[in-house]
Order: sequence, then C-alpha cells, then structure tokens
Amino acid sequence: MQTQILSGEQALTLAAELIREGQVVAFPTETVYGLGADATNPQAVARIYEAKGRPSDNPLIVHVADKQSIRPLVRQISEQAQIVMDRFMPGPITVILPRAACVPDAVTAGLDTVGIRMPEHPVARDFLRTCGKPIAAPSANRSSHISPTTAQHVYEDLQGRIPLIIDGGACSVGIESTIVDLSGETPIILRPGAITEQMLADALGTVQTFRGKVVVARAPGMKYKHYSPKCPMLSTTDCARAIDAYDRLVEQDKHPLMLCSSQWVERIGTRRHIDLGPDPQTVMRNIYGAMHAAEGIADTILCQDFGDEGVYGSVMNRVRKACGGNTL
Ligand code: TXA
Ligand code: MG
Repeated sequence: MQTQILSGEQALTLAAELIREGQVVAFPTETVYGLGADATNPQAVARIYEAKGRPSDNPLIVHVADKQSIRPLVRQISEQAQIVMDRFMPGPITVILPRAACVPDAVTAGLDTVGIRMPEHPVARDFLRTCGKPIAAPSANRSSHISPTTAQHVYEDLQGRIPLIIDGGACSVGIESTIVDLSGETPIILRPGAITEQMLADALGTVQTFRGKVVVARAPGMKYKHYSPKCPMLSTTDCARAIDAYDRLVEQDKHPLMLCSSQWVERIGTRRHIDLGPDPQTVMRNIYGAMHAAEGIADTILCQDFGDEGVYGSVMNRVRKACGGNTL
C-alpha cells in the first residue's frame, strides 16, 4: 500500500472517502497525530489495531467535531463531567464517561466506559466535520514507539501500512491529552497532560491522580511500555552528573546525546545536545520531536529530569516511561 501525505481540501476529501470505506487515516491534533477510523464500524476499528500492531485490549479514544456529538455516545454526563467539558473542550483533554450501546466493543475493548475527545486543531475539526462520524483514534505510531508530532514521524512508523496522512504541521501542545475519568463519584486523572491536576482541581474542587500499581487496569494503556525510543534513555536532575556520564560514554566510543533545557545548554559546552527550550510549554512541545531526532543519531540519550511542577510533571510522565525508569 502506498502512503500519501496530503494537506488542504484534497486531503479532506480523500480522507472522508477513505473513512466511509472503512479505511484508516492519520490526522493532526494539537496534542499528537492520531490514526482514525469510523468508531461505529468494528471492522474499520480493527484496522487501527492492525496498522499499529497494538494489543486489542487497549481501548481507543473517540474524537468528535462538536459537543452535540458527545451525547449519543454516552449514557450519562455528570455535573462534574459537564464542568470539565464546558471549561476545557475543545482542547487537550479526554473524558471517560459511561458508554452508550452504540459504541462498539472494538473501540472500548469491552469496557463499560468510553473516552471522548474534542480536539481544537482546525484541521482535526475540519476532518471530523467532513467525515460526519465519531472517529476512534489512538496516537499514530507503531505500538510502544514514540508518539508522532509531525506528519513525517507518522510516515516513518506507518508508511506502507496506511493509505493517507493529513499534514497539519507540527503539533502545538506536543504530548497526548490529559485523561480524566468522570464515570464514577470521584474524578481521577488517568494520564497527565497539558491540562494539569491543578487546573482540574480548580474547576472541580478536588481531583485524584491515579498512582501506584495497576490492580484493576482502569486505563489499560498503563500496562504497556510506551513512548520508547530505539536506544537506551536515562534521566537526571543533575547537570554535572549528566556531563560526567556523557564524557564517560564518549571515552567508551559511544555516541551519547543530551536532551535538556536552554538553561543547561549554557553549561554543557560543545557536547552534543538538543535544546528543548527555556520554559515548560516549549519543552512539552519539543520533547517527542527531540526523542525522534535523537534516536536516529545517538546510541544513548541523556535527558534532563524537569521535576513534577505543572506540565513538567506531564512531560516527565512520558520521559520516565521512555527511560523505563532508568536514571543516572
Ligand atoms: O491526545 C491524545 O489523546 C491522542 C490524540 C490522537 O487524540 N490520542 C491518544 O490515544 O493518545 P492513545 O490510544 O495513544 O492513548 C489513549 C489512552 C490509552 O492509554 C487507553 O488505555 C486510554 O486512553 N483509554 C481509552 N479509553 C479508555 C477508557 N474507556 N477507560 C480508561 N482508559 C481509556
Ligand atoms: Mg499512544
């Protein structure tokens, strides 16, 4: 299968046709690129799992063009869910709600809930509107690889496996949506993102973050290794330690590369690095792109640990997984 990368009207027309035929299409959102299919067609949804090589017990998020499209997909919208939807949609958030019977098991992996997202990216919204259907979509990467933030990243992972990538430029947020479970009494954050714990707490009064072992997998995705580059990656809060490790690796004829803030760049001299930027939003936007670039030119990635304040905590959620928990 040949994979086309298109943009504009031409891309949207072909995309809508492919979706109608039960095919998959990669499309941009403000978080990361998604791999979409008609959420009401189980065979189309099966193609997503096939293209990604993703285990089919990991449920997909359903994407909608507008708020009216949410109601038919769910049994109930609690008061808290309404507050979150009013405040943060469209945007980088996914809400977990009790699912309606019309959402197939293929989408939710048999769960009684469904994840709903209304993206803000203009091309995503045009795509969803043109399709006129709810679109099930995970991130458009091969299972376990780094999430894509450009059409080129999608192409590198999925070329030959999908017919079309809609090119909408680089994603402005840069990491996947915050997932908040609003199907029960207490709102629980299942995955941190650009909408932080604090922002949700400000809107809702209280909110819990899912921590600790996954006994009953509420977000089955938590079971899987995610976001990994093809070479080892380690993190540290200590710039001097990163420099030591870098120099030792070079002595062993290795090719390390550092991913760090602009503040560290001033201290590391001529050592190879990618500058992730001077502030949390920029670091968040650049982290996946930098991981993609680094794995192509380095055999060990040394990444700054940014701590857990605000969106840095969401960035580190991804970085720690990419490191498999390994620190310097
Ligand atoms: O920003 C995003 O959310 C991107 C863009 C494309 O929208 N999508 C994305 O999808 O990151 P994916 O499949 O890579 O991650 C979705 C996560 C998975 O970990 C999955 O387990 C969880 O959402 N999830 C989906 N439906 C769920 C449900 N009903 N209950 C709990 N977790 C759910
Ligand atoms: Mg993903």
